[in-house]
Amino acid sequence: MDTLIEIRNLKTHFFLDEGTVRAVDGVSFRIPNRRTLGVVGESGCGKSVTAQSILRIVPSPGKIIEGHILLASRNGEEEDSSGEPVDLAALDPGGAEIRRIRGREVAMIFQEPMTSFSPLHTIGNQICEAILLEPDADKESAREHAIEMLKQVGIPKAEQRIDAYPHELSGGMRQRAMIAMALSRNPRLLIADEPTTALDVSIQAQILDLMEALQDEYGMSIMFITHDLGVIAEMADEVIVMYWGKIVEQADVDTVFNDPQHPYTRALLRSIPQIGATAKQRLEAISGVVPHPFARLQGCPYAPRCTEAKMGVCNVGKPPALTEVAKGQSVSCFLHHDNRE
Ligand SMILES: Nc1ncnc2c1ncn2[C@@H]1O[C@H](COP(=O)(O)OP(=O)(O)O)[C@@H](O)[C@H]1O
Ligand SMILES: [Mg+2]
Repeated sequence: MDTLIEIRNLKTHFFLDEGTVRAVDGVSFRIPNRRTLGVVGESGCGKSVTAQSILRIVPSPGKIIEGHILLASRNGEEEDSSGEPVDLAALDPGGAEIRRIRGREVAMIFQEPMTSFSPLHTIGNQICEAILLEPDADKESAREHAIEMLKQVGIPKAEQRIDAYPHELSGGMRQRAMIAMALSRNPRLLIADEPTTALDVSIQAQILDLMEALQDEYGMSIMFITHDLGVIAEMADEVIVMYWGKIVEQADVDTVFNDPQHPYTRALLRSIPQIGATAKQRLEAISGVVPHPFARLQGCPYAPRCTEAKMGVCNVGKPPALTEVAKGQSVSCFLHHDNRE
């Protein structure tokens, strides 16, 4: 399968007075064309910073200190294209090239649509502004295109709603409008960072269905970030599980659910609410918390919370690299590492 984007050994750290936060610490994965990668893990594990790194919008004092973010070229469609992938990690974050790529090649949607929309302008003006960045766009066709996009994302009376201000729309409708804006330039990669987390369950299901339908139509790849494995089950083809800045397990979605190998993945799965379960059975939250960002730990960062950890093994030394344990399934876990030797 053709790779759209490949991340190699990405490290993005925040250099604070109090210490260094290794938010993303040696992460590698690839996303094929037209496929969805699910990125899952508890809060603080580096999911959003991975996304910010791809778009080169990591806030200061954060910095990519190592690694590559290789975006495939558009098969000679672009005149100045060499056919070679572009390394987004090597671009000037304020330069013309990454600005061309943002929105055009890689677009992002967020949990909070007001991150994308300014409250001061109508959604139509803001979507048109994005469309007008395209070389051959003119004002009239941009407005038509914006109305078309709003219809596609299921906003009723799009011809009128286009002139609404963001606060005049419901949360679900604002989320749809943000998706319309993100897709208005037909990007090849859509990064969705917890886009449905703030919505109630029925609206969330509608937005997920909409995203799947739009992916079929537009053929983009999606990087879907969520802490919710239920959402991963619905959306993802491949999954990476992140813990404390690293990938601890990587597999296709069926394998993650049917044969998870990392104790952290198993614990996340046990914490999914089961339909029909009693209140008591419903949630087994993972005990303990993600280590403090400044912590310098010996051994596996999950070991202190891990029900399978072996003392003397898991709390000593450097955690093993991601290692293939079955076809297409890799884990970073001392227990698997030991078994292999
Ligand atoms: N702007 C920032 N300044 C300092 N630390 C940050 C900043 N953004 C994120 N971090 C830290 O980086 C780590 C990863 O954060 P993040 O990627 O937002 O986690 P997630 O999206 O998985 O919840 C956390 O320890 C977080 O505190
Ligand atoms: Mg986040």
